[in-house]
Amino acid sequence: MFEVVCNDAMGAKKYQPDVPGACVSTQAHYNGRMRILSGIQPTGRFHWGNYFGAIRQYIALQNGQGTAFYFIANLHALTTVRNKEQMSQNIQDAALDLLALGLDPNQATLFVQSDVPEISELCWILMTSTPMGLLERCHAYKDKKAKGLPADAGLFAYPVLMAADILMYDSDIVPVGEDQVQHIEVCRDIAGSFNHTFGEVFVIPRAQVLADSARVPGLNGGKMSKSYGNAVDVFGDLKVQKKKIMGIQTDSRPMEEPKNPEGDHLFELYSLFASPEQTETLGETYRRGNFGYGSIKKELVGLVENFFAEARERRRQLEATPEIVRQVLADGAARARRKAAEVLRRVQEACGLRKQLQTDKEIQ
Ligand code: TYM
Repeated sequence: MFEVVCNDAMGAKKYQPDVPGACVSTQAHYNGRMRILSGIQPTGRFHWGNYFGAIRQYIALQNGQGTAFYFIANLHALTTVRNKEQMSQNIQDAALDLLALGLDPNQATLFVQSDVPEISELCWILMTSTPMGLLERCHAYKDKKAKGLPADAGLFAYPVLMAADILMYDSDIVPVGEDQVQHIEVCRDIAGSFNHTFGEVFVIPRAQVLADSARVPGLNGGKMSKSYGNAVDVFGDLKVQKKKIMGIQTDSRPMEEPKNPEGDHLFELYSLFASPEQTETLGETYRRGNFGYGSIKKELVGLVENFFAEARERRRQLEATPEIVRQVLADGAARARRKAAEVLRRVQEACGLRKQLQTDKEIQ
C-alpha cells in the first residue's frame, strides 16, 4: 500500500485517498512508480465540474508522483456525438483546453483514445468475461432505460471500454469525479475475475476523488453537467459567464436572516475559486446574515475571471500554433501504444490467444 501524497496548493486534507473498497495492486507489474490514468470525453467544452473534479487532479498528479497518462475519450463520445466535423472540433478543443489548463506534455502523456487501436481488442477480450448483470446495474444505461429512451450497445458496454482504458496502462490511480467511481468499481470487478481465471494479469486500480469537489454543483444546485443545462464552461465568453453566475439560483429568505453555508451551492462554488481566508469570511457572513446574494455573485464573477485569466491567455497562444498540439498528440499516441502493446501481449498470452514467446529471437 502506498500513500497518495498531494504536493500542490490544493492541500492534503482535500484528498480522500481511500474510496470505500479500494485497494492497491501488489502485482509485479507495479515498478515502484505509481501509474496514473484518466480520460475525458470530447462531448463539448469543459465546464467547472470537469476542471475541479478531474482536470485539476490530472495537473497536480503529473508532477513527479508517477507516470501519468491522460486521454481524450473520443470512442466513448461516439455514443453521443454523431457529427464528424463536431467530433474533430471537440477533440481539438479538448486538447487545447487541457494544455492551456496546465497539462504538461513533458510530464504526462496526452493522447486520443482511438489512436491506440489495441484498446478495441482488449475491450472485446474483457467483454467476454463481463456478466450482463454487472452492466445492467450501471447508472448511465439504467437511467436511459428508466426514461424509456433507446439505448445502444455502445452505451451498455461503455464501462467495459472504460475498464480496457484503465487496465491497458497498468493504472494504479484513476483521478475522477464521484460520478465515475461506479465505473471504476466495475473495472476492478472485471480485472479481479479475469485475474482469477487467467492468473495475475491486471493491476487492480483505484479511484481517486477530491473531497471538496467530488460533485461540483451546477447553477441550480444539482450536479453540474452539460446535459442538465446547468454548467458554466471554463473558457466560455466572459459576458455569458457573468450572466450565468448572476443567474445562480438562490432562495428568497430575507436578507437579514442568518444562513448556513453548509450545502449551499453558491457558497460551494465560491469556495472553489476563493482563497481559504475569503471562504472563511464568506462563511461568517452567511452565519451572521444581513447580506445579499447579488453581491456575492458579483464578487464570484471577478474571482472566476482572475482564476482562469492565465489559462485563457495560454489557450489563445496555443490556438495560433495547431502544429504543436498535433505533435503533442502524435507523441502521446506513440508512447501510449508502446505500453498498450506490452499489456495486450501479456493478456493475449494469458488467455491463449498468443503463444508465450521464450527467446529474444522469437520476440523479434
Ligand atoms: P466525463 O467526460 O463525463 O467527465 C470527465 C471528468 O470530469 C468529472 N466530472 C465532474 N466532477 C465533479 N463534479 C462534476 N459536476 C463533474 N462532472 C464531470 C468526471 O467525473 C470525470 O472524471 N467515462 C468518463 C471518461 C472515461 C474515463 C476512462 C475516465 C473514459 N475512459 C477511463 C477515467 C478512466 C466520462 O464520461 O467522463
